[in-house]
Amino acid sequence: MAIRLGDEAPDFTAETTEGKVEFHKWLGNSWGILFSHPKDFTPVCTTELGAVAKLKKEFDKRNVKVIAISVDGLDSHKKWVPDIEETQGVQLNYPIIADPDKKVAVLYDMIHPNASDNFTVRSVFIIGPDKKIKLTITYPASTGRNFDEILRVIDSLQLTAKFSVATPVNWKYGEDVIITPAVKDEDIPAKFPKGHRRIKPYLRYTEQPN
Ligand code: BEZ
Repeated sequence: MAIRLGDEAPDFTAETTEGKVEFHKWLGNSWGILFSHPKDFTPVCTTELGAVAKLKKEFDKRNVKVIAISVDGLDSHKKWVPDIEETQGVQLNYPIIADPDKKVAVLYDMIHPNASDNFTVRSVFIIGPDKKIKLTITYPASTGRNFDEILRVIDSLQLTAKFSVATPVNWKYGEDVIITPAVKDEDIPAKFPKGHRRIKPYLRYTEQPN
């Protein structure tokens, strides 16, 4: 069954390039990103896994653990990693799950039969410290993802989890945010003492509050 926002992220145990992982235990109190790729030794996937390794510091800064998955086996992953490192100029610094029996892929509905019966599509799940699903994205095999966008979403998710705000179109960290409709006008000065702009009764901006 499809995984929806707010669902608990299914737990599993799996072999990875960094040893056995018990998913919930491995996540601990961190945020998590679980992302699938269709197949080892393929060009787009090679660039994606390299790009994620280069962003490791950014994920660490945000207390986010990253883990990749495909339905290839551990031997295949271990043979592919040196290629990623050689061609993308970076050391792989996060685990890749081996899922040859498709256990995790099925649990997370990462196989879309109208795309392929055999391969996972490019799924992304962002998981909160409460183990709930905060975001899902699905890309086709032919399109590499934009992991700067994933970081941008994490910034929004972490901010909006703490404050009564939402982030507007194309928002980036540091830009003004929107006060959620649940906040009454009269409560704004106490909640957002740096001030606010009231464009419409339902459209009220304030500085990023953290
Ligand atoms: C790729 O990663 O390049 C790829 C994988 C499966 C199908 C098409 C492209």
